[in-house]
Amino acid sequence: MTHSVRKDFLVFGEPAIEDAEIQEVVESMKSCWLGTGPKVARFERDFCTYKGGSYAVALNSCTAALHLSILVAGIGPGDEIITTPMTFSATINAIIHAGATPVLADVDPVTMNIDPDNIEEKITHRTRAILPVHLAGRPCNLDRLHDIAERYSLKIIEDCAHSVETEYKGEKAGTGGDFGCFSFYVTKNVSTGEGGMVITRREEDAARIKTLALHGMSKDAWHRFSDSGYKHYQVVECGFKYNMMDLQAAIGIHQLMRVEQNWRKRKEIWDFYQAAFSDLPVKLPAEPEKDTRHAYHLYTILIDSVRTGLSRDQFIDGMTRNKIGVGVHYLSIPEHPYYRKTFGWQPTDYPNAMQIGRQTVSLPLSAKLTIEDASYVADTVRSLLKEKSLGRKAYIETPRTAILPENIRTTIDKSRDWAVNSRSANL
Ligand SMILES: Cc1ncc(COP(=O)(O)O)c(C=O)c1O
Repeated sequence: MTHSVRKDFLVFGEPAIEDAEIQEVVESMKSCWLGTGPKVARFERDFCTYKGGSYAVALNSCTAALHLSILVAGIGPGDEIITTPMTFSATINAIIHAGATPVLADVDPVTMNIDPDNIEEKITHRTRAILPVHLAGRPCNLDRLHDIAERYSLKIIEDCAHSVETEYKGEKAGTGGDFGCFSFYVTKNVSTGEGGMVITRREEDAARIKTLALHGMSKDAWHRFSDSGYKHYQVVECGFKYNMMDLQAAIGIHQLMRVEQNWRKRKEIWDFYQAAFSDLPVKLPAEPEKDTRHAYHLYTILIDSVRTGLSRDQFIDGMTRNKIGVGVHYLSIPEHPYYRKTFGWQPTDYPNAMQIGRQTVSLPLSAKLTIEDASYVADTVRSLLKEKSLGRKAYIETPRTAILPENIRTTIDKSRDWAVNSRSANL
């Protein structure tokens, strides 16, 4: 390595937590209202306003949001839902929990999102819904998905775990279909530690999700300990324990206030990486498509050992040795033994997802990152790939500063400001 190894480990996906949410949590603690209460209600209202959705219900995870959306859509045993093999297991498990059968449609090799042509090939008389994932924050082709859903009378349940800020031709992710399901897990663009949200256009669906999220207890149960006096509750169906706590919402309210500011920081890092790696023998993410807004949740590169001289996992080891945490989003779903055993899927049945899953690495891309962190990541990536690729015809080393276009250098200077600012704000 040409540069010295940093002292502390750069944790992948560390959230940018600031004083405002710390104070809000402290306030919740002091008020002793820890469970579902006024802060959850405010977070729901704020989220609805941000997304321009009609109704929002806060839950304890996106997995819960997906599960309840499927149930409320009236989908269950005997029904099929078409989804992507390039996702987190939660997407598939939620379908299984609802008693339905997941059916996979391969992804487009460039966008890495579900391929609409493939969806059409998988539709049967049992198909009831499409469950797209806006992978890494890049929107799926929603025009095509709406068209298919309309022609075959299918529901659309969007997995928006990566896509709080995502837009497709003016349509905000999660608002144009039947349900939009969001995650506020630690590494997500808006974080509450653990947490999720469903948005929907129908009041009755939101009300049923709320009931199912708390044991199937009637609506008033959420307020049964308030100062307006004890209220008896009625269990109207067999629900779950999926509600969000005020303690979580206290974090989310302030995270959401900074959602756009944090998006800009991640975009700067994303652009910086794009320029810094432009001459490396790796596949970089495609630029966002016209008329869309990428949420810049993940920055992924594809390591092809034939071109780079080292495997994806050797690259990950190299990053770890250099104290950089990275992620893999994702091994394709059929690589996991449970799904192979249960559904008979083979990775080779979904070749695009398989190849991406075997080559992909996510580099740190959090609003918490300073420009020094991002530069260190870029230098390390370049060093690792340079060491192995030297001597290979495909690789021509160019001094890094020489490949950075002027606008990116300006971006870095601006980023340096935000690095300093965010540090002082954290004090
Ligand atoms: C694509 C996708 N779907 C669903 C989930 C589940 O989210 P949660 O952890 O909030 O249940 C995740 C979480 O990482 C995800 O990345």
